[in-house]
Amino acid sequence: MRTSVIVVANQKGGVGKTTTAINLSAALAQRSYKTLLIDLDPQGNASLTFVDPREQTHTIYELLVDRDVTIQQAIQASENDKLDVIAARISLANADAKLIGEFDSYYRLKDKLEGLNGRYDFIVIDTPPTLGILTVNAMVAGTHLVVPVQASYFSLEGTADLLDTYDRIRNRPNPNLVFLGVLITLHDKRTILSREVTQEIRDKFTDKVFDTMISKSVRLEESPAHNQSIFTFAPRSTGALEYYKLAQEVVDRVR
Ligand SMILES: Nc1ncnc2c1ncn2[C@@H]1O[C@H](COP(=O)(O)OP(=O)(O)OP(=O)(O)O)[C@@H](O)[C@H]1O
Ligand SMILES: [Mg+2]
Repeated sequence: MRTSVIVVANQKGGVGKTTTAINLSAALAQRSYKTLLIDLDPQGNASLTFVDPREQTHTIYELLVDRDVTIQQAIQASENDKLDVIAARISLANADAKLIGEFDSYYRLKDKLEGLNGRYDFIVIDTPPTLGILTVNAMVAGTHLVVPVQASYFSLEGTADLLDTYDRIRNRPNPNLVFLGVLITLHDKRTILSREVTQEIRDKFTDKVFDTMISKSVRLEESPAHNQSIFTFAPRSTGALEYYKLAQEVVDRVR
């Protein structure tokens, strides 16, 4: 099996990117796929769920900025032997300034991933809420794009910019990047608003919308505060079931 590199991106903030990266990677690991989670968000929330970045000399920042750091040096094992992590610290916020003007600034991650030689079935990348150098690094290195969209008003605002970036990346640096799907998040089936927006998203993106929707849930909201994925925090919750189903859909669509 070739490594699939799943980029979770939307420059809109708070739409569930990090929650999705955390729980999709945990679900893939639970399904016995060897998985690497790469945290490209300086907030480092995805990292903290599985590892302690303070124990690590080389994080994603050093990997991107220092040519001599190898990807092996940046990988941290989690408690789950199917899941490894490349963590982010707040230092990552300086990466843009360090990389700008370097002729290969958008290719740093892609080049380093070559060093893995197909060791993982899946790589899942969490990105920050911008379309800057970090997100472009992810989209250049990726094979598949997943776009979480919140089921609320104005949720589609800004998706035009994201799709434009996607088109430009496909034109030149990465023609192989596949638009895997839009994931509806923070869905509340009791509200008319959620239902209307869901319909609007399905009308616009048709078969590019995942069948699985992620409901608004207190368990999902609470789990990061306990540094846990939903699968250890509340394994029988709706959120766990939904992310488990999403992982199956991702596997099916990637094939
Ligand atoms: N399905 C859900 N139900 C309830 N709360 C959720 C759900 N998904 C995410 N949240 C909460 O919503 C907030 C934003 O989610 P998250 O951090 O995953 O979004 P993000 O897109 O990564 O944000 P940012 O753009 O800041 O990186 C968090 O407090 C998170 O715990
Ligand atoms: Mg985030």
